Amino acid sequence: MLGRLEDLEKEAMAALAAACDEQALAAWYGAYLGRNGKVADAVKALATLPRDDRPAYGQRVNEAKQLLEAAYLALCAALKQAAEDGALRADQVDVTLPGRPARLGHLHPATRTLREICAIFAEMGFQVYRSRHVETDEFNFGLLNMPPHHPARDMWSTFYTTTPGVIPRTHTSPGQVHAMREYCPEPVRVVLPGMCYRYEQITARSEIMFNQVEGLALGEGITMTDLKGTLVAFARRMFGPQRQVRFRASYFPFTEPSAEVDMDCVLCGGRGCRVCKNTGWVEILGCGMVHPVVLRNGGYDPEVYSGFAFGLGPERIAMLKYGIQDIRYFWGNDLRFLEQFS
Ligand code: FA5
Repeated sequence: MLGRLEDLEKEAMAALAAACDEQALAAWYGAYLGRNGKVADAVKALATLPRDDRPAYGQRVNEAKQLLEAAYLALCAALKQAAEDGALRADQVDVTLPGRPARLGHLHPATRTLREICAIFAEMGFQVYRSRHVETDEFNFGLLNMPPHHPARDMWSTFYTTTPGVIPRTHTSPGQVHAMREYCPEPVRVVLPGMCYRYEQITARSEIMFNQVEGLALGEGITMTDLKGTLVAFARRMFGPQRQVRFRASYFPFTEPSAEVDMDCVLCGGRGCRVCKNTGWVEILGCGMVHPVVLRNGGYDPEVYSGFAFGLGPERIAMLKYGIQDIRYFWGNDLRFLEQFS
């Protein structure tokens, strides 16, 4: 019987050596180590042996079984490794091939204009000051010299939230007070860029969501001349040295005196067109000398300090600069429009 076991072991090892794929391996396992395989038959044969022969036979049959199992597992691992190696070889990457070019995006035209504006003011010594989009009624209006029920609040069509006194800012001017309170009593020269939100009729010139860049310069002895010089310099840096700029008296509750700045229409050269409403002039910003009440709310003594502030709309500036006829293109997400600014 032990001799038959030897033969079985040799036969099984030879058959295993011939198994060269997963299918053959599975067939081999069924034939030799499976529940009805030849090793199981050899185990069952134990019962037919005389009692004295059983221990030696039992030990030998176990050894044979362990040997075959170990050989089977080793071959399984070797086949798996060979399959993985083959797949890797087949899947080899030719690192010398030129890569696929990554498609680069570019800045949104509004962001680009916003940055261009900030860069021009940076050259004049203005730092960027970031201020919050969601404001309190107090900062958006009250501290800017518009107490509750002040009629000038109607100049800013406002979105309200369900939280009383909390609103998306209608302009970047509340940032003036944040900046003043942070820097007081130091002189201030900052620009405050960012989104504003207004409950307005959407038209070719007006959006409900648009950027503004606020400017604020505070110190001792700052006058209207500084304001005019700064804004004329800005307009000529942005649109070219030949641009004409005019200051028109206006009203803002937080500046006194206040003005609106117009520039000769870039699109029609001042002859009159749809964009300039046939006047030859286009409004580009609002400005003025900071009101004493606002100075005081920011912590500055109006007897000692003075300053100017202005607020402009980058989308309107971009419309003029690039001849864009309708402000709705900015947030319309039409790639045919956006790709022109790459
Ligand atoms: C203001 O918002 C003032 N806070 C500006 C200011 C700041 C005055 C500091 C004095 C001192 P106004 O509502 O005019 O002003 O808006 C300023 C600029 O924002 C406009 O000239 C325009 O360029 C832009 N703007 C206003 N409303 C819209 C709108 N609905 N869509 C697009 N741009 C707008």
